[in-house]
Amino acid sequence: MWNGIIAKYKDFFDIKDEEKIITLNEGNTPLIPAKNIGEMLGGINLYLKYEGLNTTGSFKDRGMTMAVTKAVQEGSRAIICASTGNTSASAAAYAAKAGLKCYVLIPNNKIALGKLAQAILYGAEVIPVEGNFDDALRIVREIAAEGKVTLVNSINPYRLLGQRSGAYEVCDQLEGKIDYLSIPVGNAGNISAYWAGFKDYHKAGKLEKLPVMLGFQAEGAAPIVEDRIFEEPETVATAIRIGNPASWDKAVAARDESKGLIQKVTDIEILEAQKLLASREGIFVEPASAASIAGVMKLSKEGYLQKGKNIVAVLTGNGLKDPSVVSPEKHIKTYGVKTEEIKTLIYRSLGSDQ
Ligand code: F0G
Repeated sequence: MWNGIIAKYKDFFDIKDEEKIITLNEGNTPLIPAKNIGEMLGGINLYLKYEGLNTTGSFKDRGMTMAVTKAVQEGSRAIICASTGNTSASAAAYAAKAGLKCYVLIPNNKIALGKLAQAILYGAEVIPVEGNFDDALRIVREIAAEGKVTLVNSINPYRLLGQRSGAYEVCDQLEGKIDYLSIPVGNAGNISAYWAGFKDYHKAGKLEKLPVMLGFQAEGAAPIVEDRIFEEPETVATAIRIGNPASWDKAVAARDESKGLIQKVTDIEILEAQKLLASREGIFVEPASAASIAGVMKLSKEGYLQKGKNIVAVLTGNGLKDPSVVSPEKHIKTYGVKTEEIKTLIYRSLGSDQ
């Protein structure tokens, strides 16, 4: 029985067995070889860490189990966060499990409907603000500083501790044979957590060689790449529509210590990568997650990634959260209940007249 990431990796976390753990049995997500895309890109060994299969559909659950467990142990009655969607869904779910109140501030009209529906149904108090994620984060920091509610954004150190488990799992799954890790960057917590996780495993003698970290921001929200705050970030990948990331310095350190890169990809490249993942590998991710694949494709075309290298791309969130990018109306034409007519359509598409 899998009991969540705290139980599995308790040696790395300062939470004792007998203490109350708030878990939704998150983690243990599959590492899926992307043979078709890997071949397309000249024979790289590409693996997809599909975080969309966490309990609330994103990697945020790894950090939230830690943050909410600690909040409960410290006697907190309520948690609060700013969010582009996934953190709010995760916070709301763990708060529901723990019996805490949950307040989530979201950028008005800019979060995917699936994520909003989750936060509402899990029972959070959803507070849309006339501003972007960075504005919302500033407000929740101010409120949390007064000590009545616990902040569960990734500036809460327990969040990033829990998210290190993603790196532990990847190492376990590949027996330490990983050359590159590709990951989308928004508020820059996850890239920082993965790097710290790899360093933990290295120190513990479970990982011989540290991987090179490759982070990707959206072109319209690329503060780290351009080394400037984006006052009005804009991208189709709403999850990473962030102009002033909280873990900016940590992400730069991860990049530099690993001799890696943080680069930008365009919305068109992101949507193409999303389509490719679905149509060639059978994996549906939300746009932000596809930034990691768009980045791998770009670097591979530039000759940066060589044949035979092991590359893990973190696919941070489930595509079902944000189906709006698909425009189903374009694909749906209704046919009559007529076998002949439908048979003709299918056989024509198969290139056969039988
Ligand atoms: N991918 C997805 C699907 C996300 O939801 C996020 C962040 C990221 C990537 C970037 O991770 O912030 O650690 O660099 N979403 C946050 C939220 C900001 O509020 O849900 P990061």
